[in-house]
Amino acid sequence: MTKLWGGRFGDEPAPELLAFTESLSFDRLLANEDCAVLAAHSRALSRAGLITDAEADTVLTALEGIARDIASGAFPFDPGDEDIHTAVERALLERVPDAGPKVRAGLSRNDRVVSALRLWLVRHGRSVALSACDLIDALMERAREHPDALMPGYTHLQRAQPVSLAHHLLAHAFAFERDVRRMLDALGRTDVSPLGAGALAGSTLELDAHRSAHDLGFGFVASNSIDAVSDRDFVAEFCAALAIAGVHASRLGEEIVLWTTAEFGFAELSDAYATGSSLMPQKKNPDVAELARGKAGRLIGNLTGLLATLKGLPLAYNRDLQEDKEPLFDGVATMLTMIPALAGAVRTMRFDTDAMARAAGDDMLLATDIAEHLVTTGVPFRDAHETDTRNAPGPSASSVDAQLSHLDASLKQIRDALG
Ligand code: ARG
Repeated sequence: MTKLWGGRFGDEPAPELLAFTESLSFDRLLANEDCAVLAAHSRALSRAGLITDAEADTVLTALEGIARDIASGAFPFDPGDEDIHTAVERALLERVPDAGPKVRAGLSRNDRVVSALRLWLVRHGRSVALSACDLIDALMERAREHPDALMPGYTHLQRAQPVSLAHHLLAHAFAFERDVRRMLDALGRTDVSPLGAGALAGSTLELDAHRSAHDLGFGFVASNSIDAVSDRDFVAEFCAALAIAGVHASRLGEEIVLWTTAEFGFAELSDAYATGSSLMPQKKNPDVAELARGKAGRLIGNLTGLLATLKGLPLAYNRDLQEDKEPLFDGVATMLTMIPALAGAVRTMRFDTDAMARAAGDDMLLATDIAEHLVTTGVPFRDAHETDTRNAPGPSASSVDAQLSHLDASLKQIRDALG
């Protein structure tokens, strides 16, 4: 059995140990990134004269083949492969028996794991951010369609003041816009290469960490090798951004659930984004919206679980850190299926603007605006608040156009930043 450790161990590892400690079942997602990290490290070794250019070339070709085989499903994983890093290295040793063993110099699994994970997040975090931009687009499209429709705005889920449907939809859009910016912000701090940190104290070999970082597409290099292998803030930050976005998706989902009830009757989901009941033929269920609400729980759980894992750890690497991957992978995968479904539901739902207008038509909803109008004529607000004023002017138009241009400019800037 090829392992990355165990040279001085007398006994083979117990099957229970392997079953409990393996991470291949989930970290195989890092295959491309792990191969990229090994490739960058091999180039660093050849630049330092520690392996020949020809050896580096054979290693790079082998790594490309390994990445391709893993992607196609043709890669023969071994039951003893503890994690993706072990599997890639085992295959490298098999495919390049001469140069393969030299590649490990100056590299530890500790800097390798976290380099691969950062690279993975930089690549896949962008997709989540772009997908959230599309949901914002969907909300903006619907707002543009309904510049004049009025609905009751709510506080305490009691009708409060009339607002435009566009204004209400854009409230959700602004929340998601902040989420996308939070993700970008977190990705900026993820864009730091830990490669060269070794196990925790760097290496005596003269390897150019800046060149390796550049080869991998990282913008920055970690300054402190102990921090480089211990830090999982970047995972926590992204999970936090996903949890908050999940909460926003949940609040939108809850409104879709409410609006599509017979009691509200403000909206109807298109058949393509609704589900039926196996028993009750009249039912049209808002499962997409309900699951958007439900998934927030797991996204919050991913964040709190990770923080609990991190909180007691001494520096530097501890095996507990292996628990960083599943919450992140799960959060990203959850978002990448949830957001398109929610965006589709938003794009295709039919708003019953007449029902909204009827609900907003209650004169009482104008009470605040009228009281404020009285204030402009010199009546103290306390007195205006008590006045019966059923015939005074309506609310000033909200600047939906200004909101849409703000969001347009912001989304353009975000998309440019995402490249
Ligand atoms: N699969 C492990 C992880 O994800 C690999 C790192 C183990 N490193 C070590 N020095 N034991 O964290």
